[in-house]
Amino acid sequence: MMASSTHWGRGRVSRATVRRSGSGSRRRTVAQALLVGALLALVVVAAGCAGGQPDVLRPGGSGAEKILTLTLQIVSILGVVLLTVWILLAIVIIKGRRRPESQASQTRGNLGIEILWTAIPAVIVAVLLILTVRTTLQIALPARGAQFTSIGHQWWWEFDFPNEGFKTANEVYVPVDRPVSIDLKSTDVIHSFWVPQMGGKVDMNPGHVNHIRFVPLKTGRYLGECAEFCGVQHGRMRFLFIVTTPEKYSAWAHDQALPARQPTGTDAIAGGQLIPTIACGGCHAIRGTAMKGAFGPDLTHFGSRSGIAAFTLLNTPQNLLAWLQDPQKVKPESKMPRIPLPLQEQQQLVAYLEELK
Ligand code: CUA
Repeated sequence: MMASSTHWGRGRVSRATVRRSGSGSRRRTVAQALLVGALLALVVVAAGCAGGQPDVLRPGGSGAEKILTLTLQIVSILGVVLLTVWILLAIVIIKGRRRPESQASQTRGNLGIEILWTAIPAVIVAVLLILTVRTTLQIALPARGAQFTSIGHQWWWEFDFPNEGFKTANEVYVPVDRPVSIDLKSTDVIHSFWVPQMGGKVDMNPGHVNHIRFVPLKTGRYLGECAEFCGVQHGRMRFLFIVTTPEKYSAWAHDQALPARQPTGTDAIAGGQLIPTIACGGCHAIRGTAMKGAFGPDLTHFGSRSGIAAFTLLNTPQNLLAWLQDPQKVKPESKMPRIPLPLQEQQQLVAYLEELK
């Protein structure tokens, strides 16, 4: 830019040509600036409207709240910068058009201006850095007495409550307004624990324990997801993070610690007799039965959960039947094999599993 403006009129190109192309590039600049502005507005609107998905503009936890505050601070500062540049640009464009023959004044070698426009961005960047580092330090609460462990698997979440004596999968309750401290592990590849409305994400590495700690501030059902690409079904590795009252949390933990209920319906009873005789127990455990597998999700209270296969499907009898009939069709390359059974037996298994509240 500077080279072309300082050497105007020196080359063979006529002034008129330069002016034409100059005003063309200005128009392009204005059009680009408008486009960027429109895209930014679209992103903000889209983020606000995304129904059913994690909404980072509505934080429910201490970390997410601080991240939102930081985001708004940065957007405000950068908004002022952007606005200033746009206003200056508009002034230059309007003034330059009124005086088509005039040349831009030359500022090369002006030490004062050089220092000024090095100092201003440096100050802006320093302020952004201080705000970011301060927020990061506030979010990273020191690890202390984990209540439970979350273990990443391809492609589901295990939640292990050693003190209460139970394991569950893909759905976990925590009490509101109390710091929650979670140990994070992985059994296979690197996953990343992320409940966007609670706070930042933390990697789950095989052979190493990480920790995350934050305070859930608002009751609600929050979607958690894996934030590290971990294979073909990375996008279907989600869980439900339910923030509830201390009383409801205690009731949930108490129920989860109980062994599996005895089935009552005719089909459910038949399903309960059938399930230990087929392959399911190789991978799944149901406490209170002979099934002790540890490779797949613990099914002791499967019926109490809202989702199937890490929220690939909602937990309804129809969806469960579809999942049992052909897991590879529902979630290709998941570790759940297809076990060929007559329809009646599949329906008995569904009846039994749905009774495991
Ligand atoms: Cu697990 Cu991505």
